[in-house]
Amino acid sequence: MKILVTGGAGYIGSHTFVELVREGHEPVIFDNFSNASREILPRLEQLTGKTPVMIEGDIRDTVLLSRTLSQQGAEAVIHFAGAKAVGESMKDPLKYYSNNVTGTQSLLEAMQENGVRKIVFSSSATVYGDPEQLPIPETHPLSTANTYGETKLVIENMLRAVSSSGPGWSVILLRYFNPVGAHETGLIGESPDGIPNNLMPYICQVAVGRRDKLQVYGNDYDTPDGTGVRDYIHVKDLAAGHVAAINRIEAPQCTAINLGTGRGTSVLEMVAAFSEAAGKPIPYEIMGRREGDVASCYADPGLAREYLGWEARFGIGEMCRDAWNWQSRNPMGYE
Ligand code: WQD
Repeated sequence: MKILVTGGAGYIGSHTFVELVREGHEPVIFDNFSNASREILPRLEQLTGKTPVMIEGDIRDTVLLSRTLSQQGAEAVIHFAGAKAVGESMKDPLKYYSNNVTGTQSLLEAMQENGVRKIVFSSSATVYGDPEQLPIPETHPLSTANTYGETKLVIENMLRAVSSSGPGWSVILLRYFNPVGAHETGLIGESPDGIPNNLMPYICQVAVGRRDKLQVYGNDYDTPDGTGVRDYIHVKDLAAGHVAAINRIEAPQCTAINLGTGRGTSVLEMVAAFSEAAGKPIPYEIMGRREGDVASCYADPGLAREYLGWEARFGIGEMCRDAWNWQSRNPMGYE
């Protein structure tokens, strides 16, 4: 299937691109490289044996999007493009509404103009807010505690409205938990700009000597060791989840599905697992809680198993092994 992959040069997009090609699909990357490196392109060619078809552009450029969908003969879209830093979203909400909400509206208008009505959307477990029940099922109430999560929820509502507005729309909302790790070759991986917001890239940069120590945000949560518990999922499992969703995108629907392992891991457990994988200690300092963090968040992955025939294959050890393999081979990421 010819698939337009918005944000396809990014961390999750690039890993999904590789899996789509492996499955015989023909993905086309549409990216403005605001949070991705052009260095990814030769590495994708090395991994897939094909020169990636890539159009550089902003998803808010509806005319370019429409022309691209038409010229490429896209039958479906996987929509990754968007801003995704929780902290930044609180300081610059308009950037998040413009990139994420207005950008998605532009994409849907371009799709409608071209009769393309199949979309897999990169949503997030952030739409569950502070969990009222664990593990979290897709029927859990939706609420958000930050602007990034708000934009994800607004987009989900936009997609639900569009899918029920007329015939032929097929929408799958994939709610990611915490993506980590890298392709086993170490050729592609996570390469955040500036100081990493997320736990795993920060640990990687400590391990490779770019940061002195990890700040652990709080050890007084109601969790086994007092530190935050999350459902970390290997980015290759996440990519496989998108392929599974594309294989189910024929039927008219609007379906929300969790992509998680169903297992929770604490910050200190992740530090210990990473130290084991990298064969070196990870110095850390216990700090106060980070605003907006919840104590625990992990998925009920039952619907993904039943509906997509998908479940996570990799554990924390493989996530740490592959993250370290990427970082140690690319100490400065793609720079
Ligand atoms: C994980 C745990 C922190 C950094 C967010 C978004 C989510 C998705 C993933 C985009 C928490 C602790 C972290 C550090 C720490 N983003 N931590 N020191 O906040 O669960 O999820 O990123 O798709 O939508 O909400 O991920 O990796 O920031 O934090 O102690 O330097 O690690 O307190 O317990 P989070 P995270």
